[in-house]
Amino acid sequence: MKRALADLAALGGAPAFDTPVVFGRPNIGSRKALYDRLDEVLDSRWLSNGGTMCEEFERRVAQEAGTPYCVATCNATSALQLALRARGVTGEVIMPAFTFAATAHALSWIGLTPVLCDVHPEDGSLLLSEAESLIGPATTAILGVHVWGRPSRLDDLSALARRHSLSLIFDAAHAFGCSWNGRPIGGFGDAEVFSFHATKFINSFEGGALVTSDAELAHRARRMRNFGISGHDTVVSLGTNAKLHEASAAMGLTSLDDMDHFVRRNRDNYLRYRDEISGTPGLRLLEVDEQEANNYQYVVLDVDVAATGLGRDDLIAVLEAENVIARRYFYPGCHRMEPYRTLRPLPGTDSISARVMALPTGECVTADQIATVGALIRFAVKRGHEITRRLQQAA
Ligand SMILES: Cc1ncc(COP(=O)(O)O)c(C=O)c1O
Repeated sequence: MKRALADLAALGGAPAFDTPVVFGRPNIGSRKALYDRLDEVLDSRWLSNGGTMCEEFERRVAQEAGTPYCVATCNATSALQLALRARGVTGEVIMPAFTFAATAHALSWIGLTPVLCDVHPEDGSLLLSEAESLIGPATTAILGVHVWGRPSRLDDLSALARRHSLSLIFDAAHAFGCSWNGRPIGGFGDAEVFSFHATKFINSFEGGALVTSDAELAHRARRMRNFGISGHDTVVSLGTNAKLHEASAAMGLTSLDDMDHFVRRNRDNYLRYRDEISGTPGLRLLEVDEQEANNYQYVVLDVDVAATGLGRDDLIAVLEAENVIARRYFYPGCHRMEPYRTLRPLPGTDSISARVMALPTGECVTADQIATVGALIRFAVKRGHEITRRLQQAA
């Protein structure tokens, strides 16, 4: 327990943790189940190209998403590109600036132009009025993002896309296992894309999936995933190599076996952080709507420097010195990164990306650790002005 400023590791004290408590440490699931599946894969001598593990993974992801079709891929970035190509998207695509670079990269990498739209400073959701004003003659699609697995105003966004005859695709990298108005994420728009990267609560080491209710889109995406090949060797369209191999699918299935457990652990962690933080002036945990299905994989802390005297970046630095690795997520917004830098002001994105941070959670993070992290945060914020001054002097 830190009692004096000098106890803080950032100011010369000993770190609160010997080993780091890290944001994004993977959930592993049952090793036995994974090894059994890997044995099955090796015995079958079918390592990739839509083997039985991949097919079962697709069935289970589709079931969870409530969609008839799922095309599993080597990562979500590729799945986004397949969705866009399979849907025939061209020209300009409107997307939020407040997202991971992959959303914009997925577009640019296949020759589409991302048009960056601002977001609500409170929750990072797309500003629909601005999105509408950005629609021009070259716009063919909107790429929405369910930031932190928190879908927002999907009915209004769908109506906007319909009004302007635009395709609507969702980067649902964060939103597997979430719902909106009681409907699972996966069935909205023309297609949605999940990430099963190692840092996601369900992981296949690396992996992703496109889900859709559009049979033709799914068929095209499946073909494009495998070089545009139809049958054994007839290339009938442009394609790429975006296949999910069998070892990854085996890990994905093993992860899915434990999905309820991971969600429970994430929810417990979220509630513990909420108890630790509640009542501390200038701090707010982004709320989860408990009426909806949630994966709780991001515990997002919003820091109001005007009230705390300690900015988000300094709080991250204080925690990092204690061996607590929290992340700016997302920072700084795509409009301030190359090659998307724009002079157009995006004040909502600037505001939220300067305030929020994601705290360590997942099955590796214990109740005791959260209690210590909570105490550290409260202490740092209580002495916010002095800590800021001392950090500035030390710099
Ligand atoms: C919002 C968002 N979109 C896309 C991606 C890319 O996912 P992947 O690493 O599976 O390609 C990520 C990765 O974390 C993400 O956060």
